[in-house]
Amino acid sequence: MCGIVGAASLRNVTPILLEGLKRLEYRGYDSSGLALLSDGQLQREREIGRVAALESLLDKRALKGNLGIAHTRWATHGKPSKLNAHPHLSSASVAVVHNGIIENHEPLRRELKEMGYRFHSETDTEVIAHLFDHSYRQASGEASSARLLKAFRHTLMRLNGAYALGIIHIEHPDRLLCARMGSPLVIGEGSEEHFIASDPLALLQVTDSFIYLEEGDYGILTRDAVDLYEMEGPDPTESEPVTRPIVRYEHGDQVAEKGDYRHFMLKEIHEQPQALKATLEGKVSDEGHLLTSILGPEAETLLANTRQIQIVSCGTSYHAGLVARYWIESIAGLPCSVEVASEFRYREVVVPDDTLFVAISQSGETADTLAALRFAKNAGYLATLAICNVPGSSLVRESSLRLMTNAGPEIGVASTKAFTTQLLALLWLTAALASSRRSGPNTLSTSGLVEEMRAMPRLVEQVLELEPAIAQLATRFADKHHTLFLGRGPHYPVAMEGALKLKEISYIHAEAYAAGELKHGPLALVDDDMPVVTVAPSDDLLEKLKSNLQEVRARGGQLINFVCEQAGLESGEGITNLVLPKVSDILAPILFSVPLQLLSYHVALVKGTDVDKPRNLAKSVTVE
Ligand code: F6R
Repeated sequence: MCGIVGAASLRNVTPILLEGLKRLEYRGYDSSGLALLSDGQLQREREIGRVAALESLLDKRALKGNLGIAHTRWATHGKPSKLNAHPHLSSASVAVVHNGIIENHEPLRRELKEMGYRFHSETDTEVIAHLFDHSYRQASGEASSARLLKAFRHTLMRLNGAYALGIIHIEHPDRLLCARMGSPLVIGEGSEEHFIASDPLALLQVTDSFIYLEEGDYGILTRDAVDLYEMEGPDPTESEPVTRPIVRYEHGDQVAEKGDYRHFMLKEIHEQPQALKATLEGKVSDEGHLLTSILGPEAETLLANTRQIQIVSCGTSYHAGLVARYWIESIAGLPCSVEVASEFRYREVVVPDDTLFVAISQSGETADTLAALRFAKNAGYLATLAICNVPGSSLVRESSLRLMTNAGPEIGVASTKAFTTQLLALLWLTAALASSRRSGPNTLSTSGLVEEMRAMPRLVEQVLELEPAIAQLATRFADKHHTLFLGRGPHYPVAMEGALKLKEISYIHAEAYAAGELKHGPLALVDDDMPVVTVAPSDDLLEKLKSNLQEVRARGGQLINFVCEQAGLESGEGITNLVLPKVSDILAPILFSVPLQLLSYHVALVKGTDVDKPRNLAKSVTVE
């Protein structure tokens, strides 16, 4: 996590850095800071809390300069505090901003202390500042680019772990160093100015031309030039810079505004009908044919040759994968495994022949998912497919096939429209797999599935009308500390997602169980102080689920059931039913996710939490 931004320009870069930080705040928001070089002085300001707090500070103390770096933090090493906020300095000559984790920071810290360096923070990043200062002093000579690069390369070679870096040095008032290893970084190209940032979004107010650094790239930029080198390559003094393409960002400057909504999360929940429509656009022809070629070259042959699916993802995206497993196995008739990326990447994986690797990620920058993808590329999979919401993200660029969700920027930390659009994209993939095999246990035709998918936005609109009733229900959670979520079949992962949403933004402990598992342990928790939320569409498993609900009621548990019109479940003492429109079994997981999002949102309002920026979390998880 953490967001970094930097600039080398003829104009004062402070406003550019501040605007960049605001746009990167989704990556972390516990503190922020910036360092500038002007008139031979290295100046720094840092503040705890949101970027707005740094901005107020700078209103009082106007810092100006043509070269600068800035950072918004999500704490890994050391608590959120002013001392731990970036940039970190060394010898009042070097300033460093860093996104990532330096795994060998402890031995480096010991070594640097022995050399006489004093540490002022608990961060892993501060070792980079001192190490670079030391390397620069060792690389004697004039204050040239060659000396800077030599010292930089030497510093990078000592680091284990992940980093995106921006560094400035007091003797180089027009040079900005940057490097990428395991954390994203782009260079923005302006007119007689250059920038760096963790995400192009941070720079769209100043440029739409970007160079995406490859893993292991490092280099130096000035207003007029960019020189990049590879860590794998020879010493920069003995080699020519590498060439990386300049890519035009073609998705517009989609700075999301809250509009009349109180929170981004609420806006994003209400945007779902539109986001679902946009997800289907370009994927289905007017005649209802699936346009599989949008996945990438030779997609049709690859789908036809696929015999098995391996899905890897994290958090909410993992829940989307779990739902898809039910679809892929029952509709396309293909075996499907789903695993969280942080486990998959460190497991000895046996890859069955003709397995398609599918990575799901809203951001496309999640460190564990990216690491799993990079492993998969050399592990013998048939192909790698990214299902992603962010064009140009590392996941999209590094996968052989891609399926975009087109939900538009998601700003609220709790994922909502990204989840339901992932589900729709996965249903589309299921249909594509089924039709490429022209067989499968389910007799649903492709045109039937397409019709179902097209009906989705309208159904979600109807569910959104339940909001006042859900808001009313949420008041019952005001004094609750624990909640159970239950579901069966594909609604078990929907229940998992509902529980994740609730704990993320209301801080209520929420657990999800497959309803059939209740009597194997969790039933012991149920009493009249425990709300039990159930996802109960009218599918083949409803009768089984009803028996599980009886078990809860018999122990005094308070049931809140999300049901379909035709469920035949009576409300009564301790039982509240919220009735959703009639929906097919296939679409039910998408539809039933929406009221759970609304429930979490309104419980969070009741609890008075910071809905869009819940404590301890960040939107993009670029560290493992
Ligand atoms: C929860 C949430 C997270 C993300 C997870 C993966 O609301 O948003 O659990 O789903 O961090 O992120 P992506 O999808 O960007 O890889």
